[in-house]
Amino acid sequence: MSVKPWRSVLYVPGDKPRAIEKARTLRADAVILDLEDAVAPEHKDAARGNVKAALAWRWPGPLLVRVNGLGTPWEHADREMALLAGVDGLVLPKVEDAATVHALHLRVPLWPMIETPLGVLRAPEIAAVPGVAGLIVGANDLARVLRTRPHPERLPLLHALSAVVLAARAHGKVPLDAVFNDVRDPQGFIRECEQGRTLGFAGKTVIHPDQVELANTAFGVTDAEADEARALLAVWEQARAEGKSVATYRGALVEQMHADAAQETLELWEKARSGPY
Ligand code: COA
Ligand code: MG
Repeated sequence: MSVKPWRSVLYVPGDKPRAIEKARTLRADAVILDLEDAVAPEHKDAARGNVKAALAWRWPGPLLVRVNGLGTPWEHADREMALLAGVDGLVLPKVEDAATVHALHLRVPLWPMIETPLGVLRAPEIAAVPGVAGLIVGANDLARVLRTRPHPERLPLLHALSAVVLAARAHGKVPLDAVFNDVRDPQGFIRECEQGRTLGFAGKTVIHPDQVELANTAFGVTDAEADEARALLAVWEQARAEGKSVATYRGALVEQMHADAAQETLELWEKARSGPY
């Protein structure tokens, strides 16, 4: 089993060189340099140039680029630049079917965004495409198209959020939760992270430096959780050594899947501690 933390994945607008530089110093598990929604049409070319330059720098973690979508005037130039410059993965906006992802014939990890109704309905096929590393929810676009109203617990989006988790997990891919727009509301952000984690997301896409550590904490493993996982594994190993098929830990049933979960928890804890940051 090999796990990697994707607790915080920071979007950085491609037309903000200062923010791009700052992103390198933050402890985000990954960074997405954005050429799409965060960049106005008249800045697309300059942004592509900035991103190309940034791809040549050393980054502490995976560096992804969100290219402009299919059918836009910039899609080819964006993809070509990112691939030639050695990107760690491409974020593909508004993906609605598996065939178009296949047809791109790209050899880098792909991160389709699920941000339209059709994308949600076809998320399982999209997640199944080889080369897809994970799915990212785009809640702003989705809310717009669905005509939902804002809701503190994201009730109108719950079905879509769970559908994305289900699709990604069904194929061993990484589900990443949507952004939280109000960068001056840390409490609201933390609540939404907790909800995302509870739903099964591996981490959250974030838009501001202040959100990075909060997401790392919300989706991370505490030392106490790591201790618990170690204790459960010890009980499990003891039980297995005695030839038992199941065990109990603190009065609760422990089976192989609980031991696997504890193992994964420990790996995530290790990686987040020893990682590049
Ligand atoms: N990545 C890296 N650095 C960022 C950043 C980001 N996403 N957002 C802000 N910063 C930096 C700023 O450059 C500034 O750095 P400085 O103090 O060295 O100049 C510092 O963080 C403080 O920024 P602040 O003034 O609080 O932000 P703001 O009010 O100017 O901007 C947003 C707020 C939301 C517009 C801005 O954070 C942003 O553009 N976020 C990304 C949006 C995006 O990528 N959208 C597409 C995906 S949904
Ligand atoms: Mg979008």
